[in-house]
Amino acid sequence: MRDEFLDPRPADEGESIDEVGLRPRRLAEFVGQRELKEHLTIVLEAARRRGQAADHVLLAGPPGLGKTSMAGIIAAEMDVHLHVTSGPALERAGDLAAILTKLDEGDVLFIDEIHRLSRVVEEILYPAMEDFQLDIVVGKGPAASSIRLALPRFTLVGATTRTGMITGPLRDRFGLVARLDYYDAEELGQIVRRAAGILHVTIDAAGAGEIAGRSRGTPRIANRLLRRVRDFAEVRGNGSIDVATARHGLATFGVDERGLDKVDRAILTAICQQFHGGPVGLSTLAIGVGEQPETVEDMYEPFLIQQGFLARTPRGRVAMPAAYEHLGLVVPSTAPRPPSLFE
Ligand SMILES: Nc1ncnc2c1ncn2[C@@H]1O[C@H](COP(=O)(O)OP(=O)(O)O)[C@@H](O)[C@H]1O
Ligand SMILES: [Mg+2]
Repeated sequence: MRDEFLDPRPADEGESIDEVGLRPRRLAEFVGQRELKEHLTIVLEAARRRGQAADHVLLAGPPGLGKTSMAGIIAAEMDVHLHVTSGPALERAGDLAAILTKLDEGDVLFIDEIHRLSRVVEEILYPAMEDFQLDIVVGKGPAASSIRLALPRFTLVGATTRTGMITGPLRDRFGLVARLDYYDAEELGQIVRRAAGILHVTIDAAGAGEIAGRSRGTPRIANRLLRRVRDFAEVRGNGSIDVATARHGLATFGVDERGLDKVDRAILTAICQQFHGGPVGLSTLAIGVGEQPETVEDMYEPFLIQQGFLARTPRGRVAMPAAYEHLGLVVPSTAPRPPSLFE
């Protein structure tokens, strides 16, 4: 089972009150993702000057990196309403039509998990995105006819954890496609200090750095760990967080120095020991750790790869020397070498 503290997905179906409060509201409050912010600043400013809706934006990246927050920011910066839905929620063509016909000029429509749209719904979305037209079929059989409705110009913001599953025609209809990357320790430290301010928690730079370093590069996890360390500090300490309190608190909740959780460690252990370093296929590996292949691929691997613990090769997943070292195992001489900067 997944450690709750390190799960980058939202805690429940909806959003926790805490998470809503910590969401950055404006572009200036959004830490990191410099390139994306710069591109958006230009795109939004240009649209504002023309008095038009901004181009459609696709945000891709692992859970917890700020995609939903960014959709809200786009609406706030454009001073328009945000309408939120998701791929799985739009089952029938009529579900999408109902939302589209409620939009006002310039509004932002956010479709989360857009890779899970059904074929029929996706096909209605094409003319809506491109020509702001909605084609509705009325009647059945030979008597069926289609009516065309003009829609207000709107901005579609799509979010996905799986770029590979977005169809070409859908992807091509976005004016801006951006990939959100994991945050570095410095940025996460800033996010932790910002959240501590909102939560009225006293924390010093080293304490924030300690939490940042164990957050899997993910703001949602950083904020969650901060709340747990705050609990720890209130119950076992004097309520304020320094590096010792942070370390002690994080250890109490089973978070290791690199922020890896049980499943991360199980994946690395399986490859290093059970599969002798790999290569091992994704589905075999997933069975080995008792998770779905998609979960391993979307939620665990990107971070393990980014941290240099694991590599994807055409023949399967292989363990890098860092994985053996992290698990306290001897690095076999057959282990692949990490790519060098000088090669
Ligand atoms: N760049 C950021 N700066 C500050 N906080 C952030 C940032 N990105 C995400 N967060 C925090 O992480 C939480 C999760 O972000 P969210 O937008 O829901 O991620 P996603 O939709 O990609 O899963 C937010 O509630 C917010 O507190
Ligand atoms: Mg989200």
